[in-house]
Amino acid sequence: MSFENKVVIVTGAAVGIGKATAIAFAEKGAKVVVADIDIKKGKQTISLIGGDAFFIEINVANSESVKNVVKDVMNRFGRIDILVNNAGIYYQGDVIETPEEEWDKVIAVNLKGMYLCSHYVIPIMLKGNGGVVVNVASEAGLVGIAGQVAYNVSKAGVISLTKSMAVDFARKGVRVNAVCPGTTETPLVKNALKRSKDPEKERRKLEECRPLNRLGRPEEIAAAILAMASDNLGYATGSVFSIDGGYTAK
Ligand SMILES: NC(=O)c1ccc[n+]([C@@H]2O[C@H](COP(=O)([O-])OP(=O)(O)OC[C@H]3O[C@@H](n4cnc5c(N)ncnc54)[C@H](O)[C@@H]3O)[C@@H](O)[C@H]2O)c1
Repeated sequence: MSFENKVVIVTGAAVGIGKATAIAFAEKGAKVVVADIDIKKGKQTISLIGGDAFFIEINVANSESVKNVVKDVMNRFGRIDILVNNAGIYYQGDVIETPEEEWDKVIAVNLKGMYLCSHYVIPIMLKGNGGVVVNVASEAGLVGIAGQVAYNVSKAGVISLTKSMAVDFARKGVRVNAVCPGTTETPLVKNALKRSKDPEKERRKLEECRPLNRLGRPEEIAAAILAMASDNLGYATGSVFSIDGGYTAK
C-alpha cells in the first residue's frame, strides 16, 4: 500500500485516532495535512511526522474555517486526494440528561463537520483525478449504546452521509467509506473514564463487553482507514467497516 505524493487531509489529527492516521499515511509517502482545533497538540503531531506534513487550524463545525483550510491546502499542494473526516467529540447522557446546547454541539462537530469538509473538498476531487473520503463513524452509529444519545445519533448520521455521498459520486471518481471503531485507547476515552465514579471498573466493563476482551489501539483503527483509502480496495464504496473487537457481531 503506497500513498506516495497523495495529499491527505486528516481532521482531528492532533491526538488519538487522527494522529495515528496522519503518522501512518506519512509513513506510506503521503503529504499529510494535520487539521485540528488544538494548535499546540497539532503542531506536536507535525514534529513527529516532519517532511511535507503541515498543521492547519480548523473548526470543522464552522463553514468559514473549513473553506479557508481547503483554500490554504490548495495553495500549498494544488490537489487533495484523500479526506479523512475524523474530528469528533463525545457527550455522555440519555435524551433527558442531554441539554439542547450539548446536543447541538455534538451534531455540529460530528455530523455537520463531516458534511462541511466533504462539501468543500469533493468538488476539488471531482475537478482533479477523483479521490477518496473516509469517515470515522463508530460502533455507536450501528447500535444504541446506553447513555450517549447525541453521540450515537451523530454517528448513525455519519453512516447515512457515507452511503449517500458514495452513491452520488461513485460514477464521478470519488469513493466514500466509513470505519466504525469500537472503544479505542485515546484521550476521548481516557477522559470519559476519568469522569466516571470507578474508572478501572468502567474500563473492565468496556473490555469485557466485546468478544476480543480488550480495547482497540489507535494504530489498529488507522490501519483500517488506510485500507479504505487505498486503491487496493478500489471496489469499495459506501462500505461500512466495523473494527470493534467483535462488539457489534454479538
Ligand atoms: N476512541 C474511541 O473509542 C472511538 C470509538 C469510535 C469512534 N471514535 C471516533 O473517532 C474519531 C477520533 O476519536 P478519538 O478517540 O481519537 O478522539 P480524541 O478526543 O482523542 O481526538 C479528537 C480530535 O479531534 C479534535 N477536534 C475536536 N473538535 C474539533 C473541531 N470542532 N474541529 C477540529 N478538530 C476538532 C480534537 O482537538 C482532537 O485532536 C472521532 O470521530 C470519534 O467519535 C472514537
